[in-house]
Order: sequence, then structure tokens, then C-alpha cells
Amino acid sequence: MSEFDPTPPRRNFYGRRHGKTLRQSQKGYLSEDLGSLRPRGITHQDNPERVPVTTASIFGDDRPVWLEVGFGGGEHMVHMAARYPEVGVIGCEPFINGVAMLLGKIRAAGVENVSVHPGDARDLMDVLPEGSIAKAFLNYPDPWPKARHHRRRFVTPEHLIPLYRVMQPGAEFRVATDIPDYVRQTLEEVPKAGFTLVHEGLDAWDDWLSTRYEQKALREGRVPHYVTFRR
Ligand SMILES: C[S@@+](CC[C@H](N)C(=O)[O-])C[C@H]1O[C@@H](n2cnc3c(N)ncnc32)[C@H](O)[C@@H]1O
Repeated sequence: MSEFDPTPPRRNFYGRRHGKTLRQSQKGYLSEDLGSLRPRGITHQDNPERVPVTTASIFGDDRPVWLEVGFGGGEHMVHMAARYPEVGVIGCEPFINGVAMLLGKIRAAGVENVSVHPGDARDLMDVLPEGSIAKAFLNYPDPWPKARHHRRRFVTPEHLIPLYRVMQPGAEFRVATDIPDYVRQTLEEVPKAGFTLVHEGLDAWDDWLSTRYEQKALREGRVPHYVTFRR
């Protein structure tokens, strides 16, 4: 074995990476747009030595950069990018059908202040320098309802400690979920990782845009909760 072992850390990802067959238009977005929108140096293949990747290298300047973990169909991410053109928004999503949906929305909205990592947020957090991120969003994270699966949730030290590291002091971390037990675990685990609770309630943020999962939750009679922390 070489002195430096570039093998990626053994990391479990339990979600889906592929869904139903992509439409021809979506295949086009992936082949034509993703190449220029994805940040370089995030995957282990691209950057086996895990050299730090600054947000200035991603956006070309020192604008504030926000992170959305698990953007799903991308509606919230595109909404934020359009509403805050002075900011750069990086989204991470391993589910390729979601990535294709986001790319369609990016084209339709014409936003340019976005960067798309079609993979696990942990790979991005590994290489971002400390204090890079000015705001982070975790919207409707996978609920993992069975107790023995709670450790797969995003609100566990494996994700929260790196998130804390890459966020700037004072940066806001927002969590939206419709699962009461997810609220419980969020309120327990996020402060343990160093964040301070700012607000928890049923009132959404002023600039919130309801996501596909929230719409599904509402149709099925579940109640959205919005939790805000500060790094
Ligand atoms: C329940 S969906 C919610 C999607 C969207 N935020 C919404 O509200 O409609 C959760 C998403 O998080 C993604 N996800 C899970 N673990 C992730 C990780 N480690 N990094 C990035 N995305 C992740 C999943 O692939 C899934 O698409």
C-alpha cells in the first residue's frame, strides 16, 4: 500500500441514489449543466488527498455562501438563490433524480449563484475550510422512524460535528421537519454539537418556501416544525 491511502472513508449512505427512469430532458440537464455547476475537488476521486476547497474557489469571489443539505427537488434552493443573488448557495443531494429536477429549475429560473454537489454533504464538509458557511438548511431530512435507525439521521454527531466546523461563528442553521421525534432528537443533538437554540415552533421563516416533502406532509395531516440554531 502507498504511504498515502486514498481509499475513501467507509461511509454508509442509506438513502436512494436512483429513482425512476429520467426523462430525456433531465438526462440533458445532467450531461449539459452538471459539469459546470459541480464544485471541483469534493469527491475522493477528484481530490484523493483531500486538499481544502475554499468557497472562493467555487464562486470566484468572497461572497457569503450557504449550504443546503438534501435539497430534494431543489425548489427551496432555487428560491433562496433567486431571492439572495449576492449569496452563493451550494446544494448537496445524492439522489440523482432530485439533482436532475434541480437542474431543470436552475435553467427555468436563470439563477447563476448556485453550485451543486451530486452526493453526500459529508464529502463536501470534509474539504471545506473551517468557518466557510454563512447559513445552512436541513429541510425535511430523512426521518428514519424506527428507533434502531435513529442513528442514521442527519442530526447525529457524525454530521453535526463537521457541520459545526464548516460554519462561521454566528451562522444560522435551520431545520424543518414534520416528525415530532425528529424535533426531539434535533433539540437534543444539535446543541450537543455546539450550536445554540434560537427558536423552535410552528411558524416558518419569513423567506421560507414550502418544499415537496412539506407539501406531502401537509396533505397527510402532519405538522411542520421549524427550528433555528446559531453556530
Ligand atoms: C425526505 S427528502 C427531503 C427533500 C427536500 N429537502 C424536501 O424538503 O422536499 C431528504 C433528502 O435528503 C437527502 N440526503 C440524505 N442524506 C444526505 C446527505 N448525507 N447529504 C446530502 N443529502 C442527503 C436524501 O437523498 C433525500 O433526497
